Amino acid sequence: MKQFNKVFLTFFFLGFATTLSAQMIEQGKPWLDTDGVMVNAHGGGILKYNDTYYWYGEFKRSGKRGNMAMDGVSCYSSKDLATWKNEGLALKMIANTNSLLQPGCILERPKVIYNKKTKKFVMWFHHELKGKGYDAALTGLAVSDHPEGPFKYLKSIRPNKGVWPQNFPDSLKNLSFTIPTDRNAEWHKKVIEGILVQRDFNKGQMARDMTLFVDDDGTAYHIHSSEDNQTLHISKLTDDYLDFTDEYWRVKPGGSNEAPALFKYQNKYYLFTSGTTGWAPNPGRSFVADKIYGPYKNIGNPVRGSQEDIKTTFHSQSTYILPVNKGTETKFIFMGDRWMPDNPIDGCYIWLPITFENNIPVIRWEDPFRLMP
Ligand code: DGJ
Repeated sequence: MKQFNKVFLTFFFLGFATTLSAQMIEQGKPWLDTDGVMVNAHGGGILKYNDTYYWYGEFKRSGKRGNMAMDGVSCYSSKDLATWKNEGLALKMIANTNSLLQPGCILERPKVIYNKKTKKFVMWFHHELKGKGYDAALTGLAVSDHPEGPFKYLKSIRPNKGVWPQNFPDSLKNLSFTIPTDRNAEWHKKVIEGILVQRDFNKGQMARDMTLFVDDDGTAYHIHSSEDNQTLHISKLTDDYLDFTDEYWRVKPGGSNEAPALFKYQNKYYLFTSGTTGWAPNPGRSFVADKIYGPYKNIGNPVRGSQEDIKTTFHSQSTYILPVNKGTETKFIFMGDRWMPDNPIDGCYIWLPITFENNIPVIRWEDPFRLMP
């Protein structure tokens, strides 16, 4: 009898512990995959395909140069968002060739969407060329028949070459500007007018921090920091998601937004961003619009908490907002990175529920966070 009780209790507690860990995440702690290794998928995004979530992210290394892309894009799968199986590298760097996707380049914020018509998984990512710092400002494209890859690298481009933004006034198109050498008030005024769009008109627009968004009608959008990180561009992708159409819009010119993450709730588009302070955290920002391309209205810092939380977005920077369906309801999870530039592989993650207060999305600290109530 005693033995039976012991066995029963052991199973009871083991069962309880498993259920608990399968539903809870602990903020900013190392999250271990099913092999007991820390999840290495930074600046990531999540795709739900059938009943599985796929988390794609930057595979970092240790040491000061650990932010360079030496390996590729990692992929993890999960049914419950808390237990993650390592699916290996979905996209691998291409060594010993003339490919632009060389180990040692920069590959950031990969996002994957599924195209129902072509049945292809499409990955876009911020790509910088080896040894060129952040000057190239390209967006890279890779495609696969399977969610976990292998993804085939297709190209890296400066988008929207030779086309004006949809919301660019005709009166400014043929003006000849001189770019002020100092980043002073005059420079900022001209940036707002579009001097950098004009500078990059023939070459293609800069594309740095990015995300993807698929609207209810299946149209996909590529949202990225452009114009020396001064202005966000929202671009419509082609039906197969493999290219840019000629339609794009400037959002918050001169606003210096990066780390964009976008979600749709009750027919409104909510855009979360951060300021531009490198790897250091800064106050989060949020905007709302009736149309995906704006105009976006500033609805302030979404963080509710201590002064420190508000100033640093809980020591994190936005990367993605994940919709999770619960019955007929959709909940949204804010995903942020805690960057560790001195040892990037040690960077941890913050995932927090987004709630609506007075019709405005807000993020409050919740630790542990119960993902699937
Ligand atoms: C902030 C961006 O959001 C990151 O993705 C990365 O590009 C760093 N800047 C580099 O300093």
